[in-house]
Amino acid sequence: MTTDSQSIPAFSILGPPGCGKGTQAEFIKTELGFLHVSSGDIFRGALARGDENAIAAQDIMQRGELVPDEIIKKMVHDELQTILLASKDPQGVLLDGFPRTVGQAEMMDDLLSDLKLHFVGMLNLEVPESELVDRLLKRGQGVEKRPDDNEDVIRERMRVWREKTFPLEKYYQNHNQLYSIEGMGAPEEVFSLLKPIIIEKANLS
Ligand code: AP5
Ligand code: MG
Repeated sequence: MTTDSQSIPAFSILGPPGCGKGTQAEFIKTELGFLHVSSGDIFRGALARGDENAIAAQDIMQRGELVPDEIIKKMVHDELQTILLASKDPQGVLLDGFPRTVGQAEMMDDLLSDLKLHFVGMLNLEVPESELVDRLLKRGQGVEKRPDDNEDVIRERMRVWREKTFPLEKYYQNHNQLYSIEGMGAPEEVFSLLKPIIIEKANLS
């Protein structure tokens, strides 16, 4: 891991589908001056642009399964490189939805150090599954509906999360880099728990 004081601090935000990763990322971006990179948003953006890799993996996402690590890694790297070049003195970077497997976690250090970023920690949002399903079904009834917001796919996303992503909690706990907080309550309340952790761990003033 790079600990160069010149490098930019990076966090990732972890938690099951619907736990509020994207919602909290917006607060972290607007209130703390971080750049936000969501692997799901990158993928959906690539799909909308007609990107070949994204089209090839489209069915995987629509079934609620995970896109292959190498495809996601390249998309996250390229997006991060682009937004870092376009931004002026960001306070930090927040990865949302990446890493999502132990394999991706193992790829991440090289990816970050290549971009002069250093990993500070994993922010982990804890929300019970019944609440997650309710939130996603509710989104599925509104204008923000995504193709993967229907009950069968939501259940599959939960299963994939338990099998492939949940092991990251242990992985980052073993690295002393896991910061878990309660993700229930209003979004502002959740952010009020995350904010002091980010400020302290990234040494922000
Ligand atoms: P991705 O886009 O990352 O989706 P996800 O993890 O399934 O989660 P969501 O984005 O639905 O939920 P969120 O936790 O961001 O919550 P949000 O803030 O939106 O991934 C989609 C797919 O892309 C994957 O299934 C996979 O196929 C592929 N993919 C992505 N990354 C990958 C990777 N690294 N490797 C392989 N494949 C990858 O909130 C959800 C809802 O709840 C919203 O309506 C929100 O308004 C509401 N809400 C939020 N917070 C609260 C609160 N505190 N109280 C009440 N409601 C709340
Ligand atoms: Mg999201």
